[in-house]
Amino acid sequence: MSEQQLKKVARFVELREVAVDGDDILIVGGGGREHAIAWKLRQSKLVGNIYGAPGNDGMNVIGTGIGATDIDKIVEYVSSNPNIKYTVVAPDDPLSMGLVDRLNALGFRAFGPTKAAAKLEWSKAYAKDVMRRFGIPTAEYATFTDMAAAKEYAKAASYPLVVKADGLALGKGVIICKGKREAYAAISEIMQDKKFGEAGNEIVIEEFLNGYEVSLLTFTDGEHFALMPTSCDHKRALDNDEGLNTGGMGAYAPCDMFGEELLNKTVETIVKPTIAAMQEEGAPFKGVLYFGLMVCGEDVKVLEYNARFGDPETQSVLTLLKTDLYVIMNAVTDGTLDKVNIEWSNLKSINVVLASGGYPLSYKKGCLINGLNDVDNDVNVFFAGVKRDNDGLKTSGGRVLCVQAMADTFETARKKVYDNIEKITFENCFFRHDIGAKLVKS
Ligand code: AMP
Ligand code: GLY
Repeated sequence: MSEQQLKKVARFVELREVAVDGDDILIVGGGGREHAIAWKLRQSKLVGNIYGAPGNDGMNVIGTGIGATDIDKIVEYVSSNPNIKYTVVAPDDPLSMGLVDRLNALGFRAFGPTKAAAKLEWSKAYAKDVMRRFGIPTAEYATFTDMAAAKEYAKAASYPLVVKADGLALGKGVIICKGKREAYAAISEIMQDKKFGEAGNEIVIEEFLNGYEVSLLTFTDGEHFALMPTSCDHKRALDNDEGLNTGGMGAYAPCDMFGEELLNKTVETIVKPTIAAMQEEGAPFKGVLYFGLMVCGEDVKVLEYNARFGDPETQSVLTLLKTDLYVIMNAVTDGTLDKVNIEWSNLKSINVVLASGGYPLSYKKGCLINGLNDVDNDVNVFFAGVKRDNDGLKTSGGRVLCVQAMADTFETARKKVYDNIEKITFENCFFRHDIGAKLVKS
């Protein structure tokens, strides 16, 4: 990239290692969530250089060329670079592969749960079993490793019915079935055709819950916890929740609809019992414990646990954090979270994902991204699927970038985001127009 081109995107691209005080950090992962984590950590005076495994070309970190699931190489990299004092493991896969256990065993500090604690995410059957044993409210369910037994159950069930692959499936392993025929097909696809691979060796079949969804992220050191502002994800590709399921097309925080009474109830019936349950399981949960909740009238039930920050919720939530994230992460590691006073902004935050036409199916790559330099200074652009070459930043993934803003009201934040999106262009760009729309109307 020429000096001139570099200047144009300088706000978004930092290329060199520099001499700075503070701990060098390695962030595992390379999407919009990881960019938001890096952006927040960079504000800490305690943090030096930030490396990415792999990171991406827009996210202001030094690339290591190591993939997020290449955990042998990550362990080797941390072992041979003593300047790296802390590793943040953001995505589900390396957590489920035991990356944090491996690093801890060698004496390295890392953020994220152990493999045993992360099982709350990587096995839905395990998560349901924990909820059942510890009385945590969730949808009624049964689990199966035998296809005929699953179909027998589906035959007698009431509909709609939800069929889920047990393991990690990029958020796609959940099929909502209106009738028996759909349920049989879903069971066969997962268990026989192995549509999600080994993740489908076991399935969970559960009751369909009606209500609205809220994401509640918490920091926890295994014993103490701190709530983050609630948030709301938008998983479908198109406006009005139409189209296919995606990794997430936008989010906002906080979710004002979810009032204090519901929050208190959630803390008492879900958050505290889950943290206590994992202690009792002998797998205290340290890291970000994400509660995917369904609010059904006065009841709140757990739809799923994630063992990490959500994407794209993080892009709206972490931008509201006033406290030093590195201080919080270290307290999580040390079990001293109760000693940290965590402060959040009262502003309203919204983010919208700009994706490549065709996503979540096939899409074109290598399209030049224009207009980044015109984005207002108080608006963040978090990058996901981008690559840099001599011409500048180009698209290299389905979710390309995420534009985020905050303001006193959702109305102003929303206007800021959508006004700035107009300035950014790439071929076949698409995005949802309705993120936060209901908040503004009501
Ligand atoms: P999960 O990965 O388990 O959170 O499921 C993904 C999405 O499927 C959720 O965000 C919900 O929109 C939907 N879903 C999962 N389980 C249920 C359920 N029991 N009832 C209604 N919708 C569900
Ligand atoms: N936004 C949902 C997730 O990160 O799984």
